[in-house]
Amino acid sequence: MILVTGATGNLGIAAINHLLTKVEPLNIAVLARDRAKAASFEEKGIDIRIGEYDDINSLETAMQGVDKVLLISSNDHGKLLQQHKNVVDAANKAGVNHLIYIGSAVQEFESSTLHTMLEPHFQTEDYIKESQIPYTILRNTIYADTLPMFLGENVFDTGIYLPAGNAEVPFALRRELGEAAANVILQPNPNNNKTYVLTGSEPYSFENLAEALSEISGKTVNYINADSKSFEETLRGASVPEYAISVLSGYVTDMREGRYNLLTNDLESILGRKPLSLREALKEVYSK
Ligand SMILES: NC(=O)c1ccc[n+]([C@@H]2O[C@H](COP(=O)([O-])OP(=O)(O)OC[C@H]3O[C@@H](n4cnc5c(N)ncnc54)[C@H](OP(=O)(O)O)[C@@H]3O)[C@@H](O)[C@H]2O)c1
Repeated sequence: MILVTGATGNLGIAAINHLLTKVEPLNIAVLARDRAKAASFEEKGIDIRIGEYDDINSLETAMQGVDKVLLISSNDHGKLLQQHKNVVDAANKAGVNHLIYIGSAVQEFESSTLHTMLEPHFQTEDYIKESQIPYTILRNTIYADTLPMFLGENVFDTGIYLPAGNAEVPFALRRELGEAAANVILQPNPNNNKTYVLTGSEPYSFENLAEALSEISGKTVNYINADSKSFEETLRGASVPEYAISVLSGYVTDMREGRYNLLTNDLESILGRKPLSLREALKEVYSK
């Protein structure tokens, strides 16, 4: 039995959709806080296990009869480490024989303004390694699907206005990262205790993004390398909350300073094909 946590989120849905192409629904269980959100899985015959990362008893109950767990990291940033520890402890107690954790493909996070958000991913990795559960860690690159959040709602009219400098990031689609996670779960003889860095097959600059957006829209989309202060002021002017400004600005700074410029062929080898190109990925993102 495979248990997927975070199953009602974007990556979880992508992983389960791929699992369903390979295994019977009766071999899949999902951890969900809200049964209604998991209704489409239930209709397909997937076992819904109601639970939540803060509730250790619910996690222990959810782990019953489970061999493999895909732990999709929490988005509850203040509590992330303790929540992940709760899942690992429950998995350990249940004798789970393969734990797959979704981490972050960021380097030198210690010097990031977002280090308090990023560090718990690495502390989780350490906790998993100490747990004795055979594990695979998948450090995911920045999702191409999140680009509209950085580029703004009207990017085809306004162009890209970001303090991203000459940042290069090998963005990848959540759908393909979910498929990779599913493939790892399904490996018959997993090469355990490995860490993979899952990235697109090329690093992309924001100039490349502008070119790709121009190609798919037929409009000219330019990239303006904004000054950080003016960028933040523009967001304030649009009534974006301060917390969101600091997170958005922190990610863009991390990209500009090269923290996401990590390139591997791990995603390609786990998928058994090249991940989609930037142009193909953006076409998919902007057709939703
Ligand atoms: N953004 C990036 O580029 C990036 C890159 C690398 C890694 N990541 C990590 O990947 C993770 C998954 O991404 P995503 O897009 O799938 O996120 P998402 O759509 O926000 O999904 C988060 C999932 O976690 C569940 N969850 C949150 N708190 C929980 C709790 N206390 N107990 C049980 N379940 C809880 C949510 O349940 P509900 O549906 O009930 O809310 C949802 O199913 C993120 O959380 C992030 O840490 C992100």
